[in-house]
Amino acid sequence: MNDCTYVIFGATGNLSRVKLMPALYHLEAAGKLTAQTRILAIGRRPWNDEKRLSEVREWVSAKARGGLDETIFQRFASRLSYFRGDLTDSEMYHRLKEHLDNRSDLPDNIAFYMAIRPAEFGVVAEHLSHADLLDEGHGWKRVVIEKPFGYDLESAQGLQKRIGRYLREDQLYRIDHYLGKGTVQNVLVFRFANTMMEPLWNRNYIDHIQITHSETLGVGSRADFYDGAGAMRDMIQSHLLQLLTLVTMEPPVSMEAEVLRDEKVKVLKSIRPIPPSAVHAHAFRAQYTEGSVDGEKVPGYLQEDKVPPDSVTETYAALKLYIDNWRWRDVPIYLRTGKRMAESQSMVSICFRHPPQQFFRDTQVERMKQNWVLLGIQPSECLKVEMTVKEPGLEMRTRPTSLDASLRRTHEAATDAYEELLLDVIQGDRSLFLRYDEVEYAWRVVDPVLRIWSTERDFIPGYTAGTWGPEESRRLFEKAEHHWRHSMSPEDT
Ligand code: BG6
Repeated sequence: MNDCTYVIFGATGNLSRVKLMPALYHLEAAGKLTAQTRILAIGRRPWNDEKRLSEVREWVSAKARGGLDETIFQRFASRLSYFRGDLTDSEMYHRLKEHLDNRSDLPDNIAFYMAIRPAEFGVVAEHLSHADLLDEGHGWKRVVIEKPFGYDLESAQGLQKRIGRYLREDQLYRIDHYLGKGTVQNVLVFRFANTMMEPLWNRNYIDHIQITHSETLGVGSRADFYDGAGAMRDMIQSHLLQLLTLVTMEPPVSMEAEVLRDEKVKVLKSIRPIPPSAVHAHAFRAQYTEGSVDGEKVPGYLQEDKVPPDSVTETYAALKLYIDNWRWRDVPIYLRTGKRMAESQSMVSICFRHPPQQFFRDTQVERMKQNWVLLGIQPSECLKVEMTVKEPGLEMRTRPTSLDASLRRTHEAATDAYEELLLDVIQGDRSLFLRYDEVEYAWRVVDPVLRIWSTERDFIPGYTAGTWGPEESRRLFEKAEHHWRHSMSPEDT
């Protein structure tokens, strides 16, 4: 039975506004919520019914695909109620317990969604437990936690120890919203539902792999969070390492959550540790300076609101990794992310080896292009296999062309990652959520870099906003011919 009460802590905050409420509305529209399912929003503001509905209507309208449908919104609104309370007040949790017990329309299965500051995860879990809100006598109790889970290896271990006192692992749903993206899930389908690629998916054929997430947006109003995190923690430790596991893992024996996560953990465990002396050969960081994006002048990171003037927080990070296993040994894997870059794009680029012989050496073809497989995550939701073909004409010239497999037909709307994930919580499917060991091993990968960077507080290279980041990041490349792949379109010959 999937009747559930979604209790949202931080319901008036940004995440709830731009992601959770719109996602729940879309689940309503898709008929995925049972008739009894309810949403209890918790916040500090004194919201009456009218105010609550007008705010939620505004948030949902801003994101509703095809515009807000009044009938669906009315149905959605009838599930929603508000409970005023302060997270730091232990008394509030007892009142909440009473409220949940007394209202017979609220199902006993409860998902607590922590859309709150990471520093509060531990204390809220503790309060929930002390007020018997995690007691599973009647109905299941699940807790959804947003990233970041910890600030580094040590704090992640501390947080796990703390919440582990109150919650079993199978009650915990650690979100990495990237895993809810259809295109990210398609990585597994592409690899394991097509026999064509899998025999080539290894060190014998693949030269190197790049995983890129770039954004044109700057830090915006999130500097108080971001300045303490930086690009390595914000994107690489979480989303990009997750993508890496999907691209490189062995075929799992089934798609069952634990089996899948076991395979992902094996990859993370096999990543070659970066010794402190090699950090600069493996990692590069930089910060955006004033520039222009889409023709508009934008400030540098240090000029952004709430950024300390001497901040050396990286808004660009690149990392070279090796996976020491039979399949991938010595294949460089480059991860890269940045804010205020030339384009917003997420993609996985797989570069194949050169053909073993240059048959066309004596013609105008100086050097054969390598084949690439490109998996577009966003905005292009597309999969491309680049091949070399002969140019028409009398001369033996070649050019790249690509076989394109688009993920979506034009009439098929994209769903947001949160829709999938919020539904999975109700259905008890944890395959797209992070198990604790995944988080811990991901921290082990980046921790040596973060440690060295935290001691180097005098200087950080800059890059002009609106560009692809600093040239110096090339120092990570294992071979001189390696270059960052920026685009899904075939590169010039
Ligand atoms: C979040 C990061 O987890 O992911 C943000 O904190 C980043 O800094 C965002 O912008 C990117 O995700 P998406 O889905 O918006 O591309």
